[in-house]
Amino acid sequence: MCGIVGYIGKEKKALDVLINGLEHLEYRGYDSSGVAYIYNNKLTIKKETGRIEKLKNTLNFNEKASIGIGHTRWATHGIPNKVNAHPHNYKDITIVHNGIIENYSALKKELQSKGYEFKSDTDTEVAVILLYDLYHQTNDVLKAIKEFKLKAQGAYAIGLICSNEMDTLYAIKKNSPLIIGVGKKANYLASDVPAIVDYTNQYIILNDGDYAKVTQDKIIVYNDKNKEIIPTIKTFEAGSEMVSKNGYDHYMLKEIYEEAEVIKRSAHITKVNLRKYQKIVIVACGSAMHAGLVGKYLIEKYAGIPTEVEIASEFRYKKIFINKKTLVIAISQSGETADTLEAVKIAKKYHSDTLGIINVKESSIAREVKYVIYTEAGREVAVATTKAYLAQVLVLALLAYLNAENKELEVIKTLESDLKELPILIESLLAKTDAYQRIAKKIYHRNDIFYIGRGIDYALCMEASLKLKEISYIHSEAYAAGELKHGTISLVEEGTPIIGIVTDKSIADKTISNLKEVKARGAYVIYIITDELDTEGDFYDDKIVIPTTNPILEPMPTIVPMQLIAYYVAKLNKCDIDKPKNLAKSVTVE
Ligand code: G6P
Repeated sequence: MCGIVGYIGKEKKALDVLINGLEHLEYRGYDSSGVAYIYNNKLTIKKETGRIEKLKNTLNFNEKASIGIGHTRWATHGIPNKVNAHPHNYKDITIVHNGIIENYSALKKELQSKGYEFKSDTDTEVAVILLYDLYHQTNDVLKAIKEFKLKAQGAYAIGLICSNEMDTLYAIKKNSPLIIGVGKKANYLASDVPAIVDYTNQYIILNDGDYAKVTQDKIIVYNDKNKEIIPTIKTFEAGSEMVSKNGYDHYMLKEIYEEAEVIKRSAHITKVNLRKYQKIVIVACGSAMHAGLVGKYLIEKYAGIPTEVEIASEFRYKKIFINKKTLVIAISQSGETADTLEAVKIAKKYHSDTLGIINVKESSIAREVKYVIYTEAGREVAVATTKAYLAQVLVLALLAYLNAENKELEVIKTLESDLKELPILIESLLAKTDAYQRIAKKIYHRNDIFYIGRGIDYALCMEASLKLKEISYIHSEAYAAGELKHGTISLVEEGTPIIGIVTDKSIADKTISNLKEVKARGAYVIYIITDELDTEGDFYDDKIVIPTTNPILEPMPTIVPMQLIAYYVAKLNKCDIDKPKNLAKSVTVE
């Protein structure tokens, strides 16, 4: 999703910092980019569609500007073209903006009636003209920002430069993340840590309603009530190495290969007492929601607490049945997903306790929830999540285990020792690259690929299918195996790839019957089976055997080959694996 970077300082060239920052934000997904800077008293704005490389070719890096703002845009209002790309400018005011100004149509009409003309389709142009309109009345940017906040509704993280104040950057934040990087004789603005990680490890998180005036030596922050506050300066944990590929072809591959390590790091969580709640509601989006579905099976089965999983964007607008006896669990890698954040705010209004399972420390959701468990997956760069999903599943599995109804169950008694073995087991699956490449070669040219499974295996199918379609652009669906006969089986023809996941002993026979049905209709069946359940037969064409482990942990090794098959299919299709088209790493607008 959109990214912001800003720089003020005389020691470095603004353009170098802006482009480096934007390149570090590329992973979030974007379709155009741009920069604005002031050099020799002159404002220059450059924008391009497509990759940052294209923007770089238009820039004169010899110009040693000491102030500038940059942006990667993921189109929401208006197509990705040069006019709609940021920065947007009106006379003295130039801005970059993340988020959505929800009342932009009404504001636009108001401004048009005052004689302003608009060139783009964006809500951001409305914001810049509104800011200018407010500014030119007093020639005071801070006053204009104060008024702007009263008029603009929705979400905005804004970086602003004013051509009459060449030594000042302004920042405004509401419902969309924005940080200020604190440097020596230089300060920075960024929507996300990687943008500035090469320059400083000190930063200030702006809260909703905050705005700031930033010069190279001074940062003044005002809160929602327009009072100057003393901001807390925090320190990042890791250095810039966290955004390197470490020799792998893609971040996604690197991140999959980190999964064994992630298990070791995330294996210890503090128990949250789930059993005092009558019901659990999990809210999340995308893969995090799929992790929630795995969690639902485990929590219901082992902790005996009814658990619902709600897509956060649906939860926001439906009648909901939660109260103070409900625990609402928000799962999010980034901790910034707008719909998930809003779902947490709604849960709080209903007096429900909230628990966040979050990867990014100090992110908006992490700060909003009552309890937080951090998934120690480390920074994830590839848009398609892998190791963070795995860490989410691990946390949910551990919560189910720690809250188990029956401590005498064998799977509960052996869980800790089984958990110690899990990284080794995952390493063994990571080593079977040939098998995944072989399967990828057989299916990468197909138009439709189906995944089937039952129960917890169905939840895994949903994630496996999402991974494949996200990065390879092949149409794929996950089906509850028992539902096939009610529709999807009509799509099966000679050679249609069907990947069947069978790890749950109690229903293995049922899924195997479904695989036989599709095989009889010509499907190319890939059988994913645990070694304990492994059966010979003529109902499959290819097979991957997953080492058997504790059933509470089994989803984790099972997803690894699915992620790698998706990766190799996308590679054979020459797709942009780390930055799939139209997708964003963290969706900070609804
Ligand atoms: C985007 C990403 C997905 C991710 C989802 C939820 O759609 O592309 O990979 O699962 O957002 O993100 P979150 O940061 O809340 O886990």
